[in-house]
Amino acid sequence: MPVISAPYAFNEGHLFVDLESICGRPLYLKCEGFNFAGSIKLKAANEMVENAERDGLLTPDSILVESSSGNLGVALSMIAASKGYRFLCVTDSRCNLSTRLLMEALGSDVHVVADQDSNGGFLGVRIEYVRALCASDDRYVWLSQYTNAGNWVAHYRTTAPEIATQFPELDVLFVGAGTTGTLMGCARWFRQWHRPVRIVAVDAVGSVAFGGEPGRRMIPGLGMSMRPPLLDESYVDEVLRVEETDTIRMCHRMARRGFLFGGSTGTVVSGATDWLARHDTRGLTAVAVAPDLGERYLDTVYQTNWLQDLYGDQLLDGLGAEEVPSAPREPKSASRATGRRRRP
Ligand SMILES: Cc1ncc(COP(=O)(O)O)c(C=O)c1O
Repeated sequence: MPVISAPYAFNEGHLFVDLESICGRPLYLKCEGFNFAGSIKLKAANEMVENAERDGLLTPDSILVESSSGNLGVALSMIAASKGYRFLCVTDSRCNLSTRLLMEALGSDVHVVADQDSNGGFLGVRIEYVRALCASDDRYVWLSQYTNAGNWVAHYRTTAPEIATQFPELDVLFVGAGTTGTLMGCARWFRQWHRPVRIVAVDAVGSVAFGGEPGRRMIPGLGMSMRPPLLDESYVDEVLRVEETDTIRMCHRMARRGFLFGGSTGTVVSGATDWLARHDTRGLTAVAVAPDLGERYLDTVYQTNWLQDLYGDQLLDGLGAEEVPSAPREPKSASRATGRRRRP
């Protein structure tokens, strides 16, 4: 039983959900929402803050500032509160209300930008605001998750080995892409592993992270309105782009089986399910990463009026038994789960 005295000291790194009975394909989901920050961003936040402390960038009167769609902001709020730093999160109107309230409850200041940049996103405007703050006062310290190597190193050190330990015969890994910290950390680690793993990045339609046309995106976390500076596409075997309607349908499909995940998990699982449907999955071991849980999305992804206003009345029609391919089975043991051999 772990006993902790700092909220950032606990993270459940070894929980996987077997999704086969829900999505009809052999897919294991690594759950990253079980920590006091409620998301995978705890790992990047810890790594970046510890590096800044080690490098002498943070002093007792420093004010941490970061541009975040929410989850990194919550993680930094928690760490800042625990370590006695001030923190200002610069976010935008897509940030969930509960996420903003969480940051404020943890003692942080939150600035919400409302203007969009030329790609229809908010990122450029958020970053400009952070730059101006840092230029105005030396006490501001910007960790810059978009360029900070600690963001991907965190996943190189933790997320990837956690997956490898559980699935020593992994064939395919599906990772959602925001800053691409998770993607790059996992991709770099598996590139050096004893067997080849196909790295599949999952992006949202409307994101320009891997090129493509900018468009409206309402679900925070995944997708970017600029090319991610951390991204090195030579480590990525394939990119999938998922429509928000498919993301939402997948979130509700999992919720109707009792698993309430965040929006980006719906994107990754939808993309992965689609990919698996197009490939021979006999003997294939596939894992996807779930960055957070669903409570923060109760007023968006899981709220009927929000869905109807944005996507129309028909979105969830037909989300019944016909989409659920098989009844739940007995849980598999990890050793059975890892007994799969064939590559795609
Ligand atoms: C919910 C959610 N999903 C996906 C991501 C993308 O992760 P990364 O920034 O490591 O690419 C984030 C990042 O903030 C997130 O909050």
